[in-house]
Amino acid sequence: MAEIGLFEAIHSQRAIRRYKPDPVPDDLVRRVLDAAIRAPSAINVQPWRFIVVKDSAARRRIADFYHTAWKAGQDNPQTQAILKTRDQSIVSHATQFATQGIYQVPVFIFVCATQSDAADSVLQAVQNLMLAARGLGLGTVFTTLLRRHDAEIRKLLSVPEGSEVVCMIPLGYPETGFGPTRRRPVEEVAFAERWGTPLR
Ligand SMILES: Cc1cc2nc3c(=O)[nH]c(=O)nc-3n(C[C@H](O)[C@H](O)[C@H](O)COP(=O)(O)O)c2cc1C
Repeated sequence: MAEIGLFEAIHSQRAIRRYKPDPVPDDLVRRVLDAAIRAPSAINVQPWRFIVVKDSAARRRIADFYHTAWKAGQDNPQTQAILKTRDQSIVSHATQFATQGIYQVPVFIFVCATQSDAADSVLQAVQNLMLAARGLGLGTVFTTLLRRHDAEIRKLLSVPEGSEVVCMIPLGYPETGFGPTRRRPVEEVAFAERWGTPLR
């Protein structure tokens, strides 16, 4: 696969929620993780730990937890009210993913922190991971929904006490294409010198 430039990767890396069931070669998983561990961390502690799940029975259990967590949200009036105010195309993709797409994902990467206050550092590694995946033609989506099943996930993955599961990143070949992403322009979110002064 032809390499793409850094800025092309940044501009087209987006949430992928439809995956081909094709396996991801181990050397590509390794390259993605090797990019993740290049991230900065406070005092270079490198508090990230990655659990790569490929086993089909484990993936099925994880997908079931994800599906159950999504359904719990559907049954919760507060969550429902919040979802009604969100972009309905995202809600519909996320629903399709939680009910069907998640069962097709060939690799789940759980990103953990060795200390409960280390999530800031770990998130830097996650962004590297997702961009590297994009560079290799692999899709990802940042997910936190499994926090609703934290105890079960910790048990399944033997996560030791004191460490935290920060997020779960599905990894696989996208069924559809990448970006472009839809974002508010820089003019709306960046200021000059003080909040509210337009940046020229
Ligand atoms: C903190 C955080 C939590 C997220 N949790 C989930 C999740 O549990 N499930 C999911 O499908 N997407 C999740 N997302 C993905 C966002 O919905 C997605 O990045 C956003 O809608 C932008 O989509 P785009 O990159 O395709 O433009 C999460 C993203 C972030 C940053």
